[in-house]
Amino acid sequence: MNFSLNSKAIANTKADCLVVALPEKGDWPASTNEADGALGGLISKLQKAGDISGKSAETNLIPLSDQTWNRLLVVGTGKDADRSPASFRKALIAMTGALKDGPSKSALIALADTTLNGSEDVSAELAKLSLIGRTLEDQLYAFNDFKSEKPAARKLSKIMVAASGTGKAQKEAFNLGLATGRGMNYTRDLGNTPPNICHPVWLAEQAVKMATDYDCIKTEILDEKQMKKLGMNSLLAVGQGSTQPPRLIVMEYRGGKAKDKPHVLVGKGITFDTGGISLKPGAGMDEMKYDMGGSAAVFGAMQVLAEIQPEINVVAVIAAAENMPDGNAARPGDIVTTMSGQTVEILNTDAEGRLVLCDALTYVKKFDPEVVIDLATLTGACIIALGHEATGLLANNDELANELLAAGDRASDKAWRLPLWDEYQSLLDSNFADMANIGGRSAGTITAACFLSRFTKEYRWAHLDIAGTAWHSGKAKGSSGRPVPLLVDYLMSHAGK
Ligand code: BES
Ligand code: MN
Ligand code: ZN
Repeated sequence: MNFSLNSKAIANTKADCLVVALPEKGDWPASTNEADGALGGLISKLQKAGDISGKSAETNLIPLSDQTWNRLLVVGTGKDADRSPASFRKALIAMTGALKDGPSKSALIALADTTLNGSEDVSAELAKLSLIGRTLEDQLYAFNDFKSEKPAARKLSKIMVAASGTGKAQKEAFNLGLATGRGMNYTRDLGNTPPNICHPVWLAEQAVKMATDYDCIKTEILDEKQMKKLGMNSLLAVGQGSTQPPRLIVMEYRGGKAKDKPHVLVGKGITFDTGGISLKPGAGMDEMKYDMGGSAAVFGAMQVLAEIQPEINVVAVIAAAENMPDGNAARPGDIVTTMSGQTVEILNTDAEGRLVLCDALTYVKKFDPEVVIDLATLTGACIIALGHEATGLLANNDELANELLAAGDRASDKAWRLPLWDEYQSLLDSNFADMANIGGRSAGTITAACFLSRFTKEYRWAHLDIAGTAWHSGKAKGSSGRPVPLLVDYLMSHAGK
């Protein structure tokens, strides 16, 4: 797809399809007025006649003849008062859906002058250009690697986005959006790849590939021997029931000053979670291939950094293992000594995410991190608590937590904070070791984070539980690409100029 910004008058810009916004109520954006003028009042007439309503995310494709454009796509943007960034994004999703398999080869999208409710952060033209770029890329995603018959190529090949100018700021904002969309799509490719291919060594190979593709990315892969030497017995215990060996994958992007402490991202990379000896029920178990969703999002964010090259230092660490039951697998009752020296009684082998993360969280101390953010499809309880809208956020630092919440709001990739109070810690008491790896039925997302918090005392840390947000179940089954937008927004807000 060829993407570009366009600041010429709409009426003078040829395209197969012109896309404009139509509010259900309230003032029209300038570009809608301009298009209406060029089309002799067609849009006003159709709205008056009731043919098009302007209801949020409603789309109408209107054939034209003898005009600068062969078609007009009118996208409803609802009432002024209800037009949040999230509802604008829904309209953009509907717009891309109407365009992508249609007859138009080229489109001029004039939506960036639509007014949004909310702070300057989200309503400014630059923020909208970014959101438009990201939504276009991410909504044009398709995953057909394993279909023997590929769908016919799309006709749509050129997208122009109307903007007030095409200066550096506008280009940067639009390109960041496009790069974020591509980062999400990379995350989705990894999450959708079947678990017979996507195993820990394959994931490590993707990191090596990234370091080959981008000079600014360096990578280091630790195998079982090296992990054993470091005392990562908890991570190793999770992988020991699988014929696929575990890996610790390190990627570094150093675009900042040498003295700037790195922001560290830690991803759960369970390439398949059967539950181990505490075997999961069979129904829907195929979806546990996305138990590496945290690491997939880390890969996606690193790709965005590599493309955009902001001034910031970021280190990514992925704890990759496959959780399988076999004669060598860890048993409920096993006690392991973690890299931190603390001992853990494994009461449930299905609570494996925290077992791999705890050693990775100890390992990252060597980078003297500015902050550490881990991402993990950690608990089914998070889906019960927050559903599929918000990522669960738990942190040992209020400032970091608030920054991540704000980044999620700005990027329409929301998170919601749950408490990490000391009162919950005793649920992890074990009769035989320093702690158990499960805390009983209640507060499952919190006790999982409590477990991790025992390994993150020496730095500012936040945990993102993405069990509900990294994946779509049902008909649209597949990886969502979340929370790449949240991560990118957060990291860019810390990048130097
Ligand atoms: N990977 C799962 C969590 C999960 C469940 C993610 C469903 C996405 C959808 C995790 O390893 C797990 O099995 N957690 C257990 C923890 C329990 C044994 C304390 C869970 O949530 O049931
Ligand atoms: Mn599990
Ligand atoms: Zn898991």
